Amino acid sequence: MYVCICNALNTRTVTQAIDGGAETVGQVYKACGAVPQCGKCKCTIREMLDDRAPRAVAGAHVSGAMPGLPADPLPAFTAA
Ligand code: FES
Repeated sequence: MYVCICNALNTRTVTQAIDGGAETVGQVYKACGAVPQCGKCKCTIREMLDDRAPRAVAGAHVSGAMPGLPADPLPAFTAA
């Protein structure tokens, strides 16, 4: 599937750029040798970046292992 029509970038090409270390939309364009034109693909590329981001922070929050944060930031429910 094409992600960027202007530059003929498909899902595979963008995924390879992200796996290669691209962390921003601009870095994805650069890694693909592309230049943003209409910009309609930016949201899709950003979503792909978010989907491939490490999940360590979310896991740390659930386990309470994040340094400096309480194990459960929500107040305890107490019945009146
Ligand atoms: S669709 Fe990517 S710049 Fe136009």
